[in-house]
Amino acid sequence: MLCRGQTTGVTVFAPAKLNLFLKVLGKRADGYHELETLMVSVGLYDTLVFSDAPAGHLSLVCRDGRVPAARAGPREMPGDGEDNLVLRAARLLRETTGTAHGARIELVKRIPLSAGLAGGSSDAAATLWGLNRLWNLGLDASELMRLASRLGSDIPFFLCSASAAICRGRGEIVEPLPLAARYWFVVARPATGLATAEVYRGCRPSTIGWTAAALASALAGGRLPEAAGLFHNALQEPAERLNADVTRLKRAFARQPFAGHQMSGSGTSYFGLCRSRRQAAQYAARLRATRLGDVFVVSNRP
Ligand code: C5P
Repeated sequence: MLCRGQTTGVTVFAPAKLNLFLKVLGKRADGYHELETLMVSVGLYDTLVFSDAPAGHLSLVCRDGRVPAARAGPREMPGDGEDNLVLRAARLLRETTGTAHGARIELVKRIPLSAGLAGGSSDAAATLWGLNRLWNLGLDASELMRLASRLGSDIPFFLCSASAAICRGRGEIVEPLPLAARYWFVVARPATGLATAEVYRGCRPSTIGWTAAALASALAGGRLPEAAGLFHNALQEPAERLNADVTRLKRAFARQPFAGHQMSGSGTSYFGLCRSRRQAAQYAARLRATRLGDVFVVSNRP
């Protein structure tokens, strides 16, 4: 997360993430799946602005950041949906600390929803961080992490200071991964999305023989072909069964000489790893021409 404090409030830039590795180890007694995943946060951001409001008052206004502000116009958030994790995070913080403070939250949304990019989770992490600061609650990193894991499995990752991590358990046990090298990705998101729970329901435990640590070592050493060969996502197979757009993207990505490519998280976004920014721009242009979805060029934050 990138943050800025002003006299009028707090601004937080909440990044998207890509899963370069997602191994399912098995199903747990609580219904979740035991995971080993390597995530990197990338430079596609939602913006959240937190400002003071009368005691007890919480409001969330959202606008589509992909169209100019003058045309988008603010709209109230619906009562449910992924973005409402922002309000749930704010309420959890109030209940836990007993604070009576109020807040107005403005969310500029650029990360696609139901896309495997964890936009809603990143917004929730930004809310915990931003309101802790706006309201001067003084919660430390481990307390924020604990609240984050109660809200969702992907949320603690966004509170860790590193821009990459190996995550275990449900995803909430975060081992930060210092990554000095910069990697460029092309990400495509089709018009359709997928519900995370449904994709997990169809998954099977991974049978691959390597771990996230092997990929971490290749990435840290800048060994791009080796890293790409260690990509894995156990959720891709069930996602393809549920949504033909994922398979269409897979075929389109396979026609470009990416170092490696796969789906992110529970989909439907698909990404390819490139050797340079220039190469990413070139492949992105070719993918845009297929009209299979919105196409972005992003990199990790070394
Ligand atoms: O934790 P979160 O609310 O983001 O998870 C959404 C859904 O994804 C869960 O309800 C569960 O069905 C599935 N899930 C899972 N195993 C995980 C993470 C999520 O089965 N490790």
